[in-house]
Amino acid sequence: MPQDTFKALVVDQKEGGIQAEFRTLPREALPEGDVLVKVAYSTLNYKDGLAVTGQGRVIRKYPMVPGIDFAGTVVESASPDFKAGDEVVLTGWGVGESHWGGFAQMARVKAGWLVPLPAGLTLKQAMGIGTAGFTAMLCVMALEEKGLTPADQREVVVTGAAGGVGSVAVAILGRLGYNVVASTGRAGLHDYLRQLGAKQILDRSVLAKPGKPLETERWAGAVDTAGGDTLAALLPGMAQNTSIAACGNAAGFALNTTVFPFILRGVSILGINSVLVPQPRRLAAWSRLAQDLPLDKLEAMMQEAPLEAVPELSRQILKGQVRGRVVIDVNA
Ligand SMILES: NC(=O)c1ccc[n+]([C@@H]2O[C@H](COP(=O)([O-])OP(=O)(O)OC[C@H]3O[C@@H](n4cnc5c(N)ncnc54)[C@H](OP(=O)(O)O)[C@@H]3O)[C@@H](O)[C@H]2O)c1
Repeated sequence: MPQDTFKALVVDQKEGGIQAEFRTLPREALPEGDVLVKVAYSTLNYKDGLAVTGQGRVIRKYPMVPGIDFAGTVVESASPDFKAGDEVVLTGWGVGESHWGGFAQMARVKAGWLVPLPAGLTLKQAMGIGTAGFTAMLCVMALEEKGLTPADQREVVVTGAAGGVGSVAVAILGRLGYNVVASTGRAGLHDYLRQLGAKQILDRSVLAKPGKPLETERWAGAVDTAGGDTLAALLPGMAQNTSIAACGNAAGFALNTTVFPFILRGVSILGINSVLVPQPRRLAAWSRLAQDLPLDKLEAMMQEAPLEAVPELSRQILKGQVRGRVVIDVNA
């Protein structure tokens, strides 16, 4: 029998602001959905940091249980696609934004939002990956589809490399044999990034603002988690007919650039949105993650924390102080 109550982190509007607090709720409080999941782990993404602290317009209705990812075991299912006991993973679909999410011991969601736990991964490892790692793989797949290949030994750069998306991107690209350059602002994490698979480290200040409209053709590809002036600084150094997978805005959302990289070098910016990925591509990305992300590298970038730590960790991730991936044990 599933438990009747569950603990959750709830973000609510209070006295003109928002407040995050822990509540014990009855199971009936869960939103509509055809699958009830006992959550084992969630994880902390940049977007969760924005939601929990109220610094970004992430939450669409209140009260909200944030947490854009979770992994757990099906307790009840009205869908033929899942049965009690199945291990499942959820990322995106507006969960933790407009539908109660993973910072809770129970979740009720639509069956179509769930994927079966990929073979070869534990629930904890799946959350070590989470939206951040899933996004990193979508970036790699998009670059490959535009022609990036490890046979091209020119450099592939990852910005925000020591963060969640960045760490997973470095590890995947390194495993696939790319010549990976990790751009980071954290001098103390160079060894960490080399161990994940970076061949070279670039101080983030080098890509902090755009220089000339076109520079020496250096990059064969890029995964950009920073956006803003970092993305603008990448564009002039892209080689002919190469692409940037742009997924983040940790450095800013405005893009101040020229058309020259596009019209004189055929450079493409590939927009990546991990939230509403159709199911076949979602399954393909998870399958690639199980295959191309070395588990020892994943373990090296993971740390574990209890649900109680989420408010403080949320503040830290927005300051760029979280290394790699944080798995949240919602039952600790
Ligand atoms: N499009 C999507 O579907 C999607 C999915 C997931 C995440 N995202 C976005 O991707 C970004 C990264 O997410 P995350 O979960 O990996 O967050 P994270 O763990 O906090 O990583 C962000 C990294 O960005 C770097 N950074 C921070 N401030 C910077 C600045 N001012 N200039 C340059 N770099 C800066 C830092 O890396 P270093 O310490 O190495 O410098 C930081 O660790 C966020 O903007 C997030 O919203 C988008």
